[in-house]
Amino acid sequence: MVIVKQQRVARKRTYLMCSPQHFAVEYAINPWMDPTAPVDRELAVKQWEGLREALTGLGHEVHLLDPEPGLPDMVYAANGAFTVDGTAYGARFKHDQRAAEAAAHRAFYADRGWRFVAPVETNEGEGDLAYLPQAHGGLVLAGYGFRTALAAHAEVEEAMGRPVVSLHLIDPRFYHLDVALAALDDTNVVYFPGAFSAASRRVLAQLFPDAVLADGDDAMSFGLNLVGDGRNVVLNAEATGLAGKLRAVGYHPVPVDLAELKKGGGSVKCCVAELRP
Ligand code: ARG
Repeated sequence: MVIVKQQRVARKRTYLMCSPQHFAVEYAINPWMDPTAPVDRELAVKQWEGLREALTGLGHEVHLLDPEPGLPDMVYAANGAFTVDGTAYGARFKHDQRAAEAAAHRAFYADRGWRFVAPVETNEGEGDLAYLPQAHGGLVLAGYGFRTALAAHAEVEEAMGRPVVSLHLIDPRFYHLDVALAALDDTNVVYFPGAFSAASRRVLAQLFPDAVLADGDDAMSFGLNLVGDGRNVVLNAEATGLAGKLRAVGYHPVPVDLAELKKGGGSVKCCVAELRP
């Protein structure tokens, strides 16, 4: 028997990142955060630089947002907005501690002439919103259950003119969609079924029959919090099992060490917002 590995093709991306210069774990708004555990900020910056270099080394463009003192979670740039086809839908954070981040992201888009849709409903940007440009003609996957309000999904549909599929997150360890599911390319996803309600698992199975399925270990090692460009998959170095599964279906895993940033409850994807002009 001859097994032909699928040819995966990378597409150049534009990303937005924010340095962890002011990173700290001063409060606990997810089960991963322990304010009593020490954080090495210098190491966090170094690891974050490694992620940025991995992305630029793959040929992607990375824009930077200025970090602000007093906003220790601002490094998780994915949460600040969600963009599709030149429209940016702003974030409205669930927790007060992060509320001020939204304005910094808004200014970034306003300064560059994006159409900006200000949200009424609570939503945490790409933390809970993923876009698959070629799946079913362009599909938004939207998580709810912990952070983003279900009502925000309708706002996204109205802002973007794309169908939005609501997915119910049920495990507090996987409080954002982007720690439970990721786009690998323009059409396919990888996800951990255990993070979703039975109904949402069924929806995912129907929409993505060829999805890569991750297990609990992959999810706990933050493997799903990845950035894929169609071929390369930049993911947390701890997620060796998931890297193997992705390699087996033709993707090229690029591991990066983000151990310090895991202490805030995030990894690769949380640090990277995709700009879709
Ligand atoms: N400490 C941050 C919070 O709980 C982590 C955000 C991680 N970002 C993400 N896209 N999952 O809000």
